[in-house]
Amino acid sequence: MRGAVAEVGALSVRYPDGTTVEIGGLPFAVGASERVALLGANGSGKSTLLRALLGLVSGRTGEVRVFGRDPGREFDAIRSRIGGVLQDVEAQLLAPTVRLDLAFGLQGRGLSKGESDDRVQEIAQRFALQALMERAPHYLSGGEKRKVALAGALVTEPDLLVLDEPFAGLDPRSRDELGQLLREAHERRGMAMVLSTHQVHELPALVDTVYVLGQDGTLLVRDTPQAVFGMRPLLAASNVDVPPLAHLIDALSRRGVAVDALPDAERLADALAARLRA
Ligand SMILES: Nc1ncnc2c1ncn2[C@@H]1O[C@H](COP(=O)(O)OP(=O)(O)OP(=O)(O)O)[C@@H](O)[C@H]1O
Ligand SMILES: [Mg+2]
Repeated sequence: MRGAVAEVGALSVRYPDGTTVEIGGLPFAVGASERVALLGANGSGKSTLLRALLGLVSGRTGEVRVFGRDPGREFDAIRSRIGGVLQDVEAQLLAPTVRLDLAFGLQGRGLSKGESDDRVQEIAQRFALQALMERAPHYLSGGEKRKVALAGALVTEPDLLVLDEPFAGLDPRSRDELGQLLREAHERRGMAMVLSTHQVHELPALVDTVYVLGQDGTLLVRDTPQAVFGMRPLLAASNVDVPPLAHLIDALSRRGVAVDALPDAERLADALAARLRA
């Protein structure tokens, strides 16, 4: 892909216990400012692919490029441009307090102490973390830990953000706030993003592109959320959920009521209300 910020082709990862994960099929690419969701069943290889983008797998063959570099070998060259949150957030929260954890990624970026403090304060407020700032990340609840890790990845304002199951364990307000922050970072700075999730209802309003990874590690399709969520047999075979709106649009079409795929309930309601009143 021209101008891709991240690309993966024919990835094969051999984990230390001998388990081998092969990701084939379509090439995986993320364009500049593109927001991509990677969907697939448990064990299909989503985290393996995302960890490869973050330079966190050893025993790898195949092509992995992020900003033109191999993240496994040249991570220092891309460190300032990429941010990531792992599925197992515990593994990445290493500072003694939440405040130090959030400030950690800002070190070495030429920011004054005041600028760094302001950015930490602002992101903490967005994720409602203020009351936790002096706590040890290790003793936080699961959702609190994930929010600290997400805040730590966003505070550095990366050009590419890699998020493995970012919504897992978050309450509704936190999910909304995260979706809003991700949209803002994209609109304001053109941030590109790759995320994996099993919670698909957020996606039509959040990403440009969806990949479906089959159960055997084959990348089966790359298309818009609207197009992919219309591919019911492929999604069922891949054990991928469909957003409630896509269900409703599909059920209406089976009853002879054609409605264009729409990204949110308000617009679908407008379209249906207009017809009912007609
Ligand atoms: N550290 C590891 N050591 C050995 N095998 C692993 C390791 N991590 C993952 N695997 C194996 O690799 C395969 C792909 O796992 P991966 O974590 O990439 O799947 P996933 O799509 O992210 O699944 P989930 O939806 O459950 O997060 C699975 O068979 C898994 O058991
Ligand atoms: Mg995973």
